[in-house]
Amino acid sequence: MRRLLVLASGRGSNFRALLEAAKHGVLRAEIVALGVSKRESGAVQIAEAHRLPILFTPTEDEILDFVKRERIDAVILAGYMRILTPKFIEALRDDQGISRIVNIHPSLLPSFPGMNAYAQAFDAGVRETGITVHLVEKEVDGGPILEQKTFRIDQMRSAEEVEARGLPIEHDLFPRTVDWFVNGEYRVEKRGGRPYVRPA
Ligand code: GAR
Repeated sequence: MRRLLVLASGRGSNFRALLEAAKHGVLRAEIVALGVSKRESGAVQIAEAHRLPILFTPTEDEILDFVKRERIDAVILAGYMRILTPKFIEALRDDQGISRIVNIHPSLLPSFPGMNAYAQAFDAGVRETGITVHLVEKEVDGGPILEQKTFRIDQMRSAEEVEARGLPIEHDLFPRTVDWFVNGEYRVEKRGGRPYVRPA
């Protein structure tokens, strides 16, 4: 079984979805621990309820030590609101140079990177937005895309409504994508000089 470390900062609904998926075999991996950038986060309560070890506000070096010590295969960002340094990203590559850090972002990247992506999409008046699961590279929200799912928002009345539609999609897409990625069920091609990672 692949061994995962999840990093989160807030509510933890994606963390919960990953745990549920691991429990039901949708995500064929073991979630070994949670790392949090904020002590008072929903994710902490979820980890406590599951009796999972928690790394509280770990530095990047502490995370890397944990990854080595615990033989972690991939680091999963589930609403982790910290920018990772290039050094950290370089330390987490496989022997083919593919990042072993996976992130979920609530827009159709490369549109609407950064914070409050659901609100950005609503305010921009786009007809549809979506969810992206991607590998983490130095360019924030710019690493190779693993999966995307779109949904229409042109009939919606608020950013909250967009988020309420998007979150269940996140909870479905994220564990399924992490599953094939961490289990190596993908092919790598080059596109625009960069790796293009698609399910096998
Ligand atoms: C999710 O919507 C996730 O996509 C987003 O933060 C939220 C975390 O919610 N991530 C980003 O915006 C990353 N740039 P959660 O704590 O309930 O999973």
